[in-house]
Amino acid sequence: MRLACKKVFFRDYVFYVWENVYEPSEDSFLFAENLAVRKGDFVLDVGTGCGILGVIVAKEASMVVVVDINPYAVRCAKENAELNGVIDKMFFVRGDLFSPFRMDGRFDLILFNAPYLPVEFSERVSWIEHAWAGGENGRRVIDRFIREAPRHLGRGGRIFLMQSTLAGVEETLEGFAREGLKASVVAKRNLPFFETLVLMKAER
Ligand SMILES: C[S@@+](CC[C@H](N)C(=O)[O-])C[C@H]1O[C@@H](n2cnc3c(N)ncnc32)[C@H](O)[C@@H]1O
Repeated sequence: MRLACKKVFFRDYVFYVWENVYEPSEDSFLFAENLAVRKGDFVLDVGTGCGILGVIVAKEASMVVVVDINPYAVRCAKENAELNGVIDKMFFVRGDLFSPFRMDGRFDLILFNAPYLPVEFSERVSWIEHAWAGGENGRRVIDRFIREAPRHLGRGGRIFLMQSTLAGVEETLEGFAREGLKASVVAKRNLPFFETLVLMKAER
């Protein structure tokens, strides 16, 4: 049975967004506008949602692996890869961050539009809450990502991470530095109520 869905457009791409899946928003679009993919990159899109970032980079990439903790998101991303003609270049995995991946040092590019809102998970956390709730300080998933991502990065690899100022940008830059990566801010967008979206890049 097919779940209810919305249609989202970005440039020439169209995405169906199923119920229980994060609908691409300001953060997704700012990320999509700043995707620095190189021809032939082997890419990992962490927390793919409807697949928007993975599908867009698939045009230039040699291969794109997408992972999400939400099983509805993984199926939705697969449908959108097919719809946008890039399914042959993509792999779809359900899992928690890097837990499905055994091999170290593989990816040229790792992307993550993280759950970053400083909101504690409810007792029976819903799939959609996984998309935005980052725990008490917004950093529960971000901090794990920073610790785990570097060992999955190939030589010359880059990480792009999206979060907002509500989850502490300095902590993220310092976290990457602790892991031996140079990190910087590559794009920003102000939102109402003193919040700014921040896209960061980290590399060796
Ligand atoms: C803000 S949404 C971004 C979705 C999509 N990349 C976009 O830009 O529209 C965050 C996504 O991360 C996923 N996610 C949250 N925690 C995760 C985890 N521990 N492992 C894998 N995916 C996770 C959520 O299910 C959600 O799809």
